[in-house]
Amino acid sequence: MAQPYPDSPFFRGNYAPIAIEAEAHDLPVRGTIPDGLCGSLYRNGPNPQFAPLDPKAHHWFLGDGMVHAFHLAEGRVAYRNRWVRTPRWQAEREAGRPLFGGFGGRPADPALAQMDAGLANTSVVWHGGQLLALEEAHRPFALDPLTLESLGYRDFGGLPPRFTAHPKQDPRSGEMLFFAYGLGGPLGPGMAYGTVDAAGRLTRCDRFEAPYAAMVHDFVATDRHVLFPVLPLTASLTRAQRGGPAFAWEPEKGSRIGILKRDAPIDTMRWFEGDPCYVFHVLNAWDAPGSGGDVILADVMQSPAAPLFPRADGRPGDPDAGTARLHRWRFDLAAATNRFTSTPLDDLAGEFPRLDERYAGLPNRIGFFAASTRRNAGDAFDSIVRIEPGTGARSLFTVPQGDAVSEPVFVPRDAAAPEGEGWLLAVVFRAAENRTDLVVLDAAAPEAGPVATAMLPHRVPYGFHGCWRPD
Ligand SMILES: [Fe+2]
Repeated sequence: MAQPYPDSPFFRGNYAPIAIEAEAHDLPVRGTIPDGLCGSLYRNGPNPQFAPLDPKAHHWFLGDGMVHAFHLAEGRVAYRNRWVRTPRWQAEREAGRPLFGGFGGRPADPALAQMDAGLANTSVVWHGGQLLALEEAHRPFALDPLTLESLGYRDFGGLPPRFTAHPKQDPRSGEMLFFAYGLGGPLGPGMAYGTVDAAGRLTRCDRFEAPYAAMVHDFVATDRHVLFPVLPLTASLTRAQRGGPAFAWEPEKGSRIGILKRDAPIDTMRWFEGDPCYVFHVLNAWDAPGSGGDVILADVMQSPAAPLFPRADGRPGDPDAGTARLHRWRFDLAAATNRFTSTPLDDLAGEFPRLDERYAGLPNRIGFFAASTRRNAGDAFDSIVRIEPGTGARSLFTVPQGDAVSEPVFVPRDAAAPEGEGWLLAVVFRAAENRTDLVVLDAAAPEAGPVATAMLPHRVPYGFHGCWRPD
């Protein structure tokens, strides 16, 4: 018999997992699903199958991946959710209890030390005709795009054993750029950079070493360059073996950003330095027009310290310092300094930045993110924001107090639509009803509220990232 979940923040409210897998063929819809909005929205997030082995070692990031799919066609919305049946999930299902715990998936039984402990719980991407559930410590895990049936790990002909949850798809070449960290030994500084072509074949994979071992969650590519932010949320096996945190905030190490020309050898990477900060997610980066490729700008969700992680001595972090806001980084490759600058662009507390991905790596005029507008709102986001970072112009769709929005995913109206013309798709937790809606907003005017709302009878727990697969 499964044990009750512990009384901990990661098991309260809409963080709590759901124990059901379900289908709904035709959800009730308020408003009208726009003509031409045909395809599937997928969302992924942690949904622990069992109460954790050691509640003190548990973290929100450590739940089994559950993918929620909303299939939109001819004005109707069908829904399906499935756990990602990783080898770990299957072994625990068969055992009827958790077998692994903590970062790195430490097994309770040493006989399981060689078993893959991947969770596939962080994001989901559509590439090369495959739907891939991603989590940064393991390879991509393929799912059937309609049934969400688990198909297994993919290595594209030679991927390293770890793969970021945030690969970047080049809208011009169709290739997927990726990185990996923590290679060559647990919690170490080994990294890799590589590319997978539009057909899903590995075309490049080069190893390199970070200045120090850290949790590297996201990266970004411009038309000509690729940037690797190594920020002082450090990793340490020695610290973990002494009973300290595997990942901890160590601002004294400073911020280091590796910059590589996309077609250059890996050993030409140049490391820029800046004040300590943390960035889970990058909105976009581009080579500044007129700079001859020497100036790179990157818009990032930057916080003074890494949220959700302790200091190296185990003291909890300052929750206010973990609040991220939109900043612009500037790198000058022609200057005689390796310092980069960071300038605030907006005052809203936000996360989960997205863009019209046809502009990935190019100068973009418009961005979107989830934000929190209320004091004491905790880490639940109450607004979806459209911002023009160049002018600061912004508009918000804000949900009632207690409700919470997810990351917004942008879908262009059609292939020829101008930047930012289309829809934003997000899930909204309705606290009073303890269930979730899928909302469709006009991306040009989110403040007008949803053009359509598809109503689920149950909750989609707080998750991380999603993607759109056009029909
Ligand atoms: Fe992420």
